[in-house]
Amino acid sequence: MDRPCLWKDPNAVAISKEESLTSMRDCKHAAHAMIYSFSSKSLFGRIPMQHNILITMRFDGTFGFPGGLINNIEGSESIEDGLNRELREEINLDLRFFMTENEYFRSYLQTLGKGKLVNHFYLKQVSESEFFDIEKRCIDAGDWGTETLGIVRVPVQEKAGYHQKNSPIVNFLRHNFVGNAKQELVEGMIKCDIFSHDEMLKIWKMSGRVK
Ligand code: GTP
Ligand code: MN
Repeated sequence: MDRPCLWKDPNAVAISKEESLTSMRDCKHAAHAMIYSFSSKSLFGRIPMQHNILITMRFDGTFGFPGGLINNIEGSESIEDGLNRELREEINLDLRFFMTENEYFRSYLQTLGKGKLVNHFYLKQVSESEFFDIEKRCIDAGDWGTETLGIVRVPVQEKAGYHQKNSPIVNFLRHNFVGNAKQELVEGMIKCDIFSHDEMLKIWKMSGRVK
């Protein structure tokens, strides 16, 4: 059996979407999305910013991806419909960027006290100018200033020193994240080739947290 990855949340195990829709139908389901682009900008005119990744500061003071609970998974609302509704509410996402099955990445079964929650996670790459447009629209979201307190770009610049103490990404991962959003961010960044698995392992160890 494979040894579990360091960044796997002990309270969240991988589950396939299909299985979650058959065996976990009675459970609550939620879906969140990581929207990202390449970046052409440089910090101080010399350090490439590499990528833009959008993440939100939530009402509860934690970082998390935009998205939320799906209404009535048994009936009217599909996972993508629910996700897109939440993306509209939380970040005013233009419908031309709405998520489809093509952006689906993976699902997790999360244990919350006595309850369980199935989390579906989506990854969407856009162009840099589209990313800027998406950011600009956020402050007009219905939930802006209440559920969504802000958006930030995850600092992934300075690749040479990425795993050193106090590197931007090492510092960022020390924040508090909701649910298993930190695991999603780490796995999303690997999937999108922002960091390799080996690079992420070093970053994770340096960030000094198990969860
Ligand atoms: P309400 O309006 O309060 O119902 O919120 P919501 O529908 O926007 O749901 P929310 O985004 O808070 O997601 C529901 C649950 O999913 C949260 O209570 C967390 O446990 C979890 N959650 C929130 N954000 C993330 C995220 O980025 N990733 C993961 N895996 N879970 C998250
Ligand atoms: Mn939400």
